[in-house]
Amino acid sequence: MGYKVAVAGATGVVGAEMLNILAERQFPVDEVVALASRRSLGKEVGFGDETLKVRTLDDYDFAGTDIALFSAGGDVAAEHAPRAAAAGTVVIDNSSRFRMHEDVPLVVPECNADAIAGFAKRKIIANPNCSTAQMVVALKPLHDRAGIRRVVVATYQSTSGAGNAAMDELFGQTKGIFVNDPIEPVAFTKQIAFNVIPHIDTFMDGGDTREEWKMVVETKKILDPRIKVTATCVRVPTFVGHAEALNVEFEAPLAAEEARDILRESPGLMVIDRREDGGYVTPVECVGEYATYVSRVRADPTVENGLNMWVVADNLRKGAALNAVQIAEVLINRYLKKAA
Ligand SMILES: NC(=O)c1ccc[n+]([C@@H]2O[C@H](COP(=O)([O-])OP(=O)(O)OC[C@H]3O[C@@H](n4cnc5c(N)ncnc54)[C@H](OP(=O)(O)O)[C@@H]3O)[C@@H](O)[C@H]2O)c1
Repeated sequence: MGYKVAVAGATGVVGAEMLNILAERQFPVDEVVALASRRSLGKEVGFGDETLKVRTLDDYDFAGTDIALFSAGGDVAAEHAPRAAAAGTVVIDNSSRFRMHEDVPLVVPECNADAIAGFAKRKIIANPNCSTAQMVVALKPLHDRAGIRRVVVATYQSTSGAGNAAMDELFGQTKGIFVNDPIEPVAFTKQIAFNVIPHIDTFMDGGDTREEWKMVVETKKILDPRIKVTATCVRVPTFVGHAEALNVEFEAPLAAEEARDILRESPGLMVIDRREDGGYVTPVECVGEYATYVSRVRADPTVENGLNMWVVADNLRKGAALNAVQIAEVLINRYLKKAA
């Protein structure tokens, strides 16, 4: 016996990846329901070899649906996730709406799978921000070995992190520049083609953006509240794949060689780190992959017990859809078992 799974936001970039990954990993489904807004009524989306007709989230009755994967934004989650939970569905939400709620687990299975047990309180589990997810996968095994004191991170985030319309804007501007079309930013605040923008999400009082703040508080919630994080989040003109330059200070000494060995043995990670031309991973190479890649691991001699590293992952997969499906897998294996 399989599960009835709904995907809310099925016409979006993350929703499409959720459907791909459910099919790829042969998640035991009896039925998959694709949900989106009224705008998408009549549209179809792919699920493995099948085609699903998109239904409207607004009037979908969740009774009988075991799990709902939400990727339709915070406002939609605020309205519909509690409604789904009240009908007995466990919601795994990709938006930032519930992430910092005390009674909602925030989970990256490689780091804190046991926190999923807390789903029982509200029947909602939160997926972290894409930049946080790949960073904590790389930090967790090093924190277990040498205790992380502080992380300084700069991100290089692809346009898909802002959804379908943002990718279209990069594509349109890039073509337009060659024929002297005027640049009219809509999804971004400035020209994104052939440019980089040090601004993701809204500004907060101290000058950080919300994206930067999310990396700070989500890392504390997932890994350890003692870890200090300071971030600069930057949008770059790539389509898929986020990269991060990390500077990490540890409590105890940790040589780059040992760090590399630990990372090589740890779940969800691939180390590609040859000190030669091309001996590292770039975003285009991680597209469609499950792993988080670590390259350029080296000592930072300017601080006590410091390491630098480069971390790259498919933001639509480990940063969103894959992580959500991994959570669903733990959920069914540990808590929602069905008789064979
Ligand atoms: N992109 C990433 O890397 C990433 C990573 C982590 C988390 N997330 C989060 O995932 C969510 C979706 O992101 P995305 O990148 O996939 O965006 P997207 O490509 O713009 O897709 C948005 C999806 O939400 C649906 N939607 C919007 N308003 C709705 C409504 N009122 N009722 C039902 N469905 C509605 C859209 O349906 P229509 O097509 O019908 O409008 C579409 O399926 C956001 O919360 C985002 O923060 C994204």
